[in-house]
Order: sequence, then C-alpha cells, then structure tokens
Amino acid sequence: MSWPEIPQAPGTPPCGAPVLLDDGWVVTRHADVLAVLTDDRCVVPVAPDGPPGTLAWLRGTVSRFSAPDPHAARRAIGVAALAGLDPDELRAAAAGLTEEVLNRVTTLPNGQVGLGTGRDRADVDEPTSGRVDVMARLARRVPLAVLAARLGLADPAAGPAVAAVAAAYHPGADPAAVVRADRAVAALLAMSPPAPAEVAANRIGLLVQACDATARLIGAAVRHGLAAPAALSTGDLLAEVLRLDPPVRATRRVTTAALRLAGREIGPDAPLLLRFDAANRDPAVHPEPDRFHPGRPGGSLTFGAGPRGCPGERHALALAAGVVGVLRRRCGGTAGPVGYPAHPTLRVPTKIEVTVR
Ligand code: HEM
Repeated sequence: MSWPEIPQAPGTPPCGAPVLLDDGWVVTRHADVLAVLTDDRCVVPVAPDGPPGTLAWLRGTVSRFSAPDPHAARRAIGVAALAGLDPDELRAAAAGLTEEVLNRVTTLPNGQVGLGTGRDRADVDEPTSGRVDVMARLARRVPLAVLAARLGLADPAAGPAVAAVAAAYHPGADPAAVVRADRAVAALLAMSPPAPAEVAANRIGLLVQACDATARLIGAAVRHGLAAPAALSTGDLLAEVLRLDPPVRATRRVTTAALRLAGREIGPDAPLLLRFDAANRDPAVHPEPDRFHPGRPGGSLTFGAGPRGCPGERHALALAAGVVGVLRRRCGGTAGPVGYPAHPTLRVPTKIEVTVR
C-alpha cells in the first residue's frame, strides 16, 4: 500500500553537520546524536538540589538529572522497580481500563457517570456524548493509573500530583508551576510506601518520566494511525509514530572536555542540544525519511541511547499499545484541529476527540 508523508513538526531543524547557535551546539544527524549519547565526555546538565520534599530536591535526587557518579546507583533503583512489572500485564490492564472508559461513553448517553470500581480507575467525570477526548480521558490518565498502582501509589490523587510535577520537571519552569509541583511532591511522598528517600524519589521519578511522554505517544498514534489498516500491528504503528512524531523531540548534554564531532571542534562546557526529531529523519538511515512506512529497519532515537537511555521503553510501549489497540478497534475519526502548546523539546497534543463506535 502507499503510505502518506508526515511533514516535520514546526521548528524541526534540517538534518546536517552540528551547528553552533547562540545557546550552544545543535546536533541533528543520527550518527552524531548517537555518538554524543554514548560519549562519557558529554554529560546530562545536573539539576541543583533543594530542601527535602520539594521539586528541587526531587530533581536533585532522581537519576535523570544526576551527575555521572550517583547516576548508576539511582538508575538501578528505577530499573529494579520496573523489572518487577510485566509489560504484557501492563498492556492488558491499560486495555481493560480503556474499554471501561469507552463503555461508559457508549452506555451512558447523557448526564452523570458512574465512578468505576477498579483500583486502576482512571476517570471520574466522563462526558457521555459518544465522543471522547483521548488526551484528557485516556492518554493522560490510563498509563499513569496503571503504573502508579503497580508502584505502590494506588491513591487516585497520585495521577494529578504526578502531572503537576511533570509540568515543572525540567529546569526553567514557570514559578507558579513550581509552587504546584512542590506541593505535589510532598503529597506523592506522603502516599508512597515506606522507603529510603532516594528510593521513594526515584520511584516517583519513574512516574514523572512516564507521564507526558507516554500520553504524547498515544496522542500521536491516534492522530496518525487511527485510520491505518487493521492488519498493521499496533507495535509497528507505534514504532513509526515514535520516529516521525517523537513525543520527546530533543535532549541536552554538556561537554566536560574538548572533543571533535563530525569534523567540528567543540570546546569544554559546551551545551549540546540533541534533536531526535531531526535525527529520526536522517536520510542516511531512512530512505524517504518523511514517508510513514511501518516496519522499516533503522528504528528511532526517541528513547535515547547509552547509559542514560530510557529504562521504561518496553513499559511505555506496552501501556501505549494497550490504549491504542482498543482505540483502533472501537473508535473512528478525529474532530477539530489538534493544538500543540509551544515548548522547545516536548510535543503534547492538547485535545484529540474521537467517536466511539
Ligand atoms: C513514549 C514514552 C517515553 C519516551 C519517548 C521516553 C524517552 C526517554 C528518553 C529520550 C530518555 C533519555 C533522556 C536523555 O538521555 O537525556 C528517557 C529517560 C528516562 N525514562 Fe523514558 N520515555 C518514555 C516513557 C518512560 C516510561 C513509561 C518510564 C517509566 C516507566 C520512563 C522512565 C525513564 C527514566 C527513569 C529515565 C531516566 C533514565 C536515567 O536517569 O538513566 N520513560 N526517557
């Protein structure tokens, strides 16, 4: 069959040699991004620590923003927690919860909504028009509810609290969002199972990392793939969506020593912006790079690579596949324009409405 082309998101730089801009180097080729991700002279910018129980403390304690030295031990906490989760079970739970939400849309034609009974309950205020906003009702709720329950935070308040932290997680967030996130971190700690502070922080860190990126993947898959032929596996659909519309568009590193990258001399302390969105369309790796062509070899860099690469890839894919698989079977047609709030590295659709069959 002939697959469509998916244009680059606005602001995606062209794929080429590293370019020096006012705020540092921009790296766009697949090979160059991979080289930086696996070069120990290129480190994650460290987030400063803060008073215990605050957002700054969380950032200063999770593996994601740690210096190389504490990183491995902190990452191991998250990896150990994830090792106890079975992706097949996550997928089934996400699918079951999605069915529950859609059943409510179709079975309650107007008025009030039941609250559901499962411990993973993801919605309390479902509209019942036969249409559902995938972002608000499913993508932002289901994966988080499933994951939080399995990490010992079954409290229904955990999801909104994680979302509040995620909204301010990356340094430079709006001060009002930071205040909300401070409160949310305290709430999440209070509802966490007893554990040393570093363990609790890194378990919360898993949820925060999972929150927006998995929601974005679901949104992008619905946007680009709801009408795809049923014969296309949801796994192949997600892989190509991750390449062409990566939920995480870029990540940052800073050099600790001078190095040479693709013929460019880069000094120490130089900021690097690694553009997954550009590298995923590198024609040296992907012929016809803009073409949506599931099953193509070469994959994407969207989950990162190297010692800092995403440890939750299989879990994210399972959760997203659970939701998207049900949506492909039971929903059709999206309505209205899909909006994306401005953000330098993230891409989250605001609202995507579909009709429930
Ligand atoms: C579509 C969904 C997801 C995408 C695209 C994604 C992408 C990424 C990327 C690119 C990184 C590395 C950032 C860097 O190297 O600077 C990362 C790190 C991380 N991700 Fe994910 N992620 C997703 C879902 C998840 C989920 C579901 C979890 C947990 C269950 C998770 C947990 C983490 C953690 C803990 C880190 C930090 C790893 C470390 O400190 O070494 N992610 N993710």
